[in-house]
Amino acid sequence: MIIAIDGPAAAGKGTLARRIAAALGLPYLDTGLLYRAVGRRVLDAGGDPADPVAAKAAAESLTAADLARGDLRDGAASKAASQVASIPAVRAALLGFQRHFGDVHGAVLDGRDIGTIIFPDADIKLFVTASLEARAGRRFAELRAKGDDVSLAAVCDDLAARDDADAKRAAAPLVAAADAILFDTTAMDADAAFARALALIKAKLG
Ligand code: CDP
Repeated sequence: MIIAIDGPAAAGKGTLARRIAAALGLPYLDTGLLYRAVGRRVLDAGGDPADPVAAKAAAESLTAADLARGDLRDGAASKAASQVASIPAVRAALLGFQRHFGDVHGAVLDGRDIGTIIFPDADIKLFVTASLEARAGRRFAELRAKGDDVSLAAVCDDLAARDDADAKRAAAPLVAAADAILFDTTAMDADAAFARALALIKAKLG
């Protein structure tokens, strides 16, 4: 069973996907982490995340240790992730890993193109959204709790810029699959979103 959870930045996909995976006994893959790790590798080497040659090389040499780093969630990694994610060779380098992850035991995967490109035949597709204000407020609280001295305005600008770039890029743009269930979490907390999503999934699976 493959459950694809896509949507814009900080919509709550990760929290939701992790809980759904645990409830259904499926492995979970946060695909954003792959792009974040590629972006970090390029930054570490003093390169430009928008440089296709550097980004492709980083994507092709990604290791498990890169994904375990503690600095993949800050603003610099988010921006670099969005930049490398627009490069077709980077997406091509990461595609096989994602498909293999899901093919072994089934999985819940969250990202931007899971229901459109990675698993177009997924059993369930959720497109998770929330207003920009709600998403910025959640990400701001998350980063502050980690000790990141970021402002709400900066978080809001980062999310809006990434959504815009992710939606406008030619390679695997952020878009809901035609058969995705649209799921707006603006007025829901994490518990309510989880309960509602699980009910939708169970209803769809019969
Ligand atoms: O956690 P948040 O929603 O802020 O971001 P993320 O899911 O970790 O993704 C970081 C960036 O990676 C996004 O802005 C996208 O540019 C890119 N990404 C992508 O292109 N395709 C995916 N399947 C996952 C992430």
